[in-house]
Amino acid sequence: MAVRDILKMGDPRLLRTAQPVPQSGFDSDALHLLVSDMLDTMACANGAGLAAPQIGVDLQLVVFGSREANPRYPGRPLVPPTVLVNPLITPLAADANATGEPTEETDWEGCLSVPGLRAMVPRWSRIRYTGFDQFGDPIDRTVEGFHARVVQHECDHLWGKLYPMRVRDFSQFGYTEVLFPEIAPCK
Ligand code: NI
Repeated sequence: MAVRDILKMGDPRLLRTAQPVPQSGFDSDALHLLVSDMLDTMACANGAGLAAPQIGVDLQLVVFGSREANPRYPGRPLVPPTVLVNPLITPLAADANATGEPTEETDWEGCLSVPGLRAMVPRWSRIRYTGFDQFGDPIDRTVEGFHARVVQHECDHLWGKLYPMRVRDFSQFGYTEVLFPEIAPCK
């Protein structure tokens, strides 16, 4: 178990399309060790989530969620602690009975690879995500709001996308200490 260094925006390793974890990689010592390091690293930085590319590992693996409120995102609902491998995201219509197009919503985001900054970022309001945990057991969830946002943000790291690439209104992009002085600075 170890806290790993988090790459910062500008590092080309954050811009790669990550490789899928092969079938033989599930429930392996190497994958369990990687997941353990990612959870330690996320906890140390008070992250809402962390993607393997952020520690320089070129694999489709993200961790997110916590059992306690996250001090970097006060007032947001809890997201269950999750290890998600080889994910697939499908945008859904706004409610279970709706037949219309998927809708977007905008909210503030930050990123451990973009320290000290926040922006308003559009994301799908409601998604289905599928994939596997580190043991190879399938995950299939339909979620909305903050949970959906966290999943989309973390999985974006697997496609080489950082949240500033999603920002449309740069008048709502700034320093956390100015926008949200009540949020403790990221260690
Ligand atoms: Ni991020």
